[in-house]
Amino acid sequence: MTELTEKKNVPQHVAVIMDGNGRWAEKNGVSRLAGHNAGMLAMKEIVKRADVMGIKYLTVYAFSTENWKRSQEEVGGIFNLLVKFVGSELAELHKQNVRVRILGDYSQVPKAAVNSVEKALKTTDSNDGLQFNIALNYGGRQEILRAVQNISARVQAGDLAPSDITEDMISAALYTGEENGSMPDPDLIIRTSGEERLSNFLLWQCAYSELAFTDSLWPDFTPDEFEEMVIAFGSRSRRFGGR
Ligand code: FPP
Repeated sequence: MTELTEKKNVPQHVAVIMDGNGRWAEKNGVSRLAGHNAGMLAMKEIVKRADVMGIKYLTVYAFSTENWKRSQEEVGGIFNLLVKFVGSELAELHKQNVRVRILGDYSQVPKAAVNSVEKALKTTDSNDGLQFNIALNYGGRQEILRAVQNISARVQAGDLAPSDITEDMISAALYTGEENGSMPDPDLIIRTSGEERLSNFLLWQCAYSELAFTDSLWPDFTPDEFEEMVIAFGSRSRRFGGR
């Protein structure tokens, strides 16, 4: 734990919208893919700091269901970076007792990326340190729709009455639910690059999340800035609708 974090109120679950790789690339006169590569390097450092700080769950938005609209070259490049990240970091993550989980339908991503993901899931599946969730081919509305479809099937089979459906059942049917060990909702969602919106990220889970924004473009976002934002969050009082 770093000096700044010591004895402070560290949230359990921090989620991050890693925005601004493209603008960073433009600003620095390099290709968009070079921007994503710089973003991947920034992500690596944030994972390490989250672990040192004692955060239990870190969720990053790596690829949304809407990101397929980008050029084939950019989409392919992002998945190549994922393969590269797993190739270079998996041994270290495993050594640090990090458990990797995927939120989203990763079966639809390129085969090499599916293989890397499955290797990361399998290698780390008995680790109980930081849980690093990578949202991949993830969309919040799609996630809720899938949960509704699963619950509806139970109703249709006669196992459940509509009036018996609870919020907990919906939470359990999300990617963050039973299939991934039932994690708590994010306490804090950080978005970089000056944009202040959720962009279809964790729409059900964000009901009581604190939201924090910074103008830093994702590749420029440092572990120190991350830690400062997380600590600043710790001093806010969350009332969950009560007083
Ligand atoms: C948003 O920036 C970023 C993404 C859509 C991709 C995020 C990917 C990484 C951080 C690196 C790869 C890591 C993995 C695990 C695949 P943007 O391109 O929307 O930026 P812009 O709004 O400035 O164009």
